[in-house]
Amino acid sequence: MKSPNFATALNAICPYYTMFPIDFPLGVLGGRAKRGHWVVDPFCGRGTTNFAARLLGLPSIGIDSSPVAVALTKAKMARARIGDIVRVAKAILNETPNHLSVPEGDFWDLAYDRTVLRRLCWLRRELIRDCTSDARIILRAIVLGALHGPRTKKVLSHLSNQCPRTYAPKPDYAVRFWRKRRMTPPEVDILELIRTRASRYLEEQPDRIASQVELGDSRSTDAWNGRVIRWIVTSPPYYGMRTYVADQWLRSWFVGGPSKVEYARPADELSHASSEKFAGELRKVWLGLVPHCHASAKLVIRFGGIRDRDVDTVELLKSSIRDSGWRLTTVISAGSADSGKRQSKQFLKEDTTPKAEHDYYATLA
Ligand SMILES: C[S@@+](CC[C@H](N)C(=O)[O-])C[C@H]1O[C@@H](n2cnc3c(N)ncnc32)[C@H](O)[C@@H]1O
Repeated sequence: MKSPNFATALNAICPYYTMFPIDFPLGVLGGRAKRGHWVVDPFCGRGTTNFAARLLGLPSIGIDSSPVAVALTKAKMARARIGDIVRVAKAILNETPNHLSVPEGDFWDLAYDRTVLRRLCWLRRELIRDCTSDARIILRAIVLGALHGPRTKKVLSHLSNQCPRTYAPKPDYAVRFWRKRRMTPPEVDILELIRTRASRYLEEQPDRIASQVELGDSRSTDAWNGRVIRWIVTSPPYYGMRTYVADQWLRSWFVGGPSKVEYARPADELSHASSEKFAGELRKVWLGLVPHCHASAKLVIRFGGIRDRDVDTVELLKSSIRDSGWRLTTVISAGSADSGKRQSKQFLKEDTTPKAEHDYYATLA
C-alpha cells in the first residue's frame, strides 16, 4: 500500500501520454516484493514502475524505444541537490555562444520567444553533448517538462506559447491556432523556471537504488542478461496508439531529434498492422523474459486500446500470453484512463483517447 511518506514529487517532472498512475505499480509491489527483488518494465515510458520500485527500495530495469521515455526514466533514478541543478543550468546559459543553430519558421517564431529559443537551443546542444551526471540528467527532464504546456496568466510555468502539456501540437495547426487568437510566446526567465521546477520536484528525494535504463526494443533486448527477475509490471503501447513519436516531436527534438514532425515510426516500435500481428509482437516480449525469471516471478500488465480501433483488447492481450511461457491467473477491470484528454482535445482531431483498461496477472506456466 502507498505510504503517505513517499517522496513522489519527482515522478511528476514531465507528463507522458498513457502513463499509468504511480499507485498501480506501488499497489502491485508494495508489501509483496522483498528486498533485492529485481523489477522490470519492458515498456517503461516515463519510468513509473521504476520510480515505484525505487520508492520501495527495489532495484529495477526499464527499456523503451523512445529517447524521451528513456531520458525521463533516467531522471527518475537520479538524485541531485536543487542547487546543483541550478548551478549546472547557469554555467551552461552563461556561455551562450554567438554562433548557434536555431530552428526557423512560423512555428518556432510563434512557439517561443526569441531569447528563450536561443537559450533552449544552447541547453539542448550542451545536454546532447554530455548528459552523464545526475544533475544534467535531472536538468534535461526538467526542461522536457517545461518545454510545452498551457500559458498561464500569473506565474509562467512553461516555456512555450499555449500548448497541450502531454502532446506537442502539429506545427501548422498550432500556428493557425495562435494566429487566430493573436497569442504570442511568453518571455520566460528560463533559469528562474528551472529553479522553481527543481525546488518543486527535488525537495524530498528517495534514496538511490541500483537501476538499468536503456533505449531499446524489448522484443530483442539483452538487457535482462545476468539478472534474476521477480516482478514485471508494465503497460505496452495501447493497441492503435501509433503516434508516440509524432506526438512527442518537440520533446524528441530537445533530446536530439529533428526540428520537425517525423511521421515514420521507428522500426523498434511494435507493429499495429493487425491485432494478430500486435499480439505476436507482445508474445515475443513475454517469451524473451522467461529465461531470466525466478520460478515465482509475476507478470502484471495494464492494457487498453484507443476508441477508434474496434478490437477486443482483452482477447488480444490473452492471445499474446498464450504459448508465451506465462499462465494468466486474473483479469480485472482498471476503469478508463483519460489523463491529458481535455487539454489534448484542443489540438487534436483524432480520437486517440484510451477506452477501458484491464489489469492482467500471470505467473510462469
Ligand atoms: C503505454 S506506454 C508506457 C507508459 C508507462 N507505463 C508510464 O507510466 O509512463 C508504452 C511505451 O512502450 C514504448 N514502446 C513501443 N514499442 C516498444 C518496443 N518495441 N520496445 C520498447 N518499448 C516500446 C513506447 O515508446 C511507450 O513509451
